[in-house]
Amino acid sequence: MVTVIFPAAGQGKRMQAGMNKVFMSLGGIPILLRTLLKYSSCGEIDQMVVVVADYEVEFVRTMLKKVPGLKPYKVVAGGSERQYSVLNGIRSVQGRDDDIILVHDAARPFVSHKVILDTIYAVKQFGGAIAAVPAKNTIKICDPYGMVEDTPDRSCLWEVQTPQGFQREILLEAYDQALAEGFLGTDDASLVERLGRSVRVVESDYKNIKITTPEDILIGEAFIQAEDELLPEIPPEVLTEIRELIQEKWQGSEGR
Ligand code: CTP
Ligand code: MG
Repeated sequence: MVTVIFPAAGQGKRMQAGMNKVFMSLGGIPILLRTLLKYSSCGEIDQMVVVVADYEVEFVRTMLKKVPGLKPYKVVAGGSERQYSVLNGIRSVQGRDDDIILVHDAARPFVSHKVILDTIYAVKQFGGAIAAVPAKNTIKICDPYGMVEDTPDRSCLWEVQTPQGFQREILLEAYDQALAEGFLGTDDASLVERLGRSVRVVESDYKNIKITTPEDILIGEAFIQAEDELLPEIPPEVLTEIRELIQEKWQGSEGR
């Protein structure tokens, strides 16, 4: 059984769009929907958990009910940090210890089926696996005053993305321990690494960007044409209805 948890409960502050960025459209299709459709058309995926802010849960349920072709899913409320959102998602998943859970940022709609499948395969082999790309830039380690302390060897540096996948038992233990010890990590694997468990890097591609700042929307628009051949089709009238729902939700009130 493979379950995917999609953290989507952020506020998209760096996007400065006055709304949660995952509801912004790229080529007419909301980012969250693009991500869910990409996974839904991937054979190995059994079920999905969409984690959104508590004030978005009902709205997202209404929205997703209109979409044909989604894998079985549930919508649960997230928390104030990504890690708490993922934790709520994990806790909502029943199953066996050796089931696989993938975590994928809702804001990464351009992930490929190949990366998803490679990650699942590596989780089966190693217990934990994360999508990543070789660092393109030289990275410096600096002190708090901006003085350079060290230059790590670039050939050892990977920029990590999602999906990040783990055996259910390992992920549960990692998240429980982090909570108990008040540890807040910047990705899922860092919590698993603290347990001393192995995590395998899976080579991904540079298209799997996280839509974060306004220029990412422009970059995303450049990817759309090739993307749309990969996604299952949604009737245009359904898309119009969904965009209207989103507009209504976010008008003036910032969605709350
Ligand atoms: N996320 C979440 N719960 C939070 C914070 C973030 O589920 N409390 C999700 C976001 O919705 C996003 C993913 O985690 O899909 C990656 O986070 P990020 O890119 O930082 O998104 P935001 O937190 O929304 O953006 P920002 O940090 O600019 O406010
Ligand atoms: Mg954030």
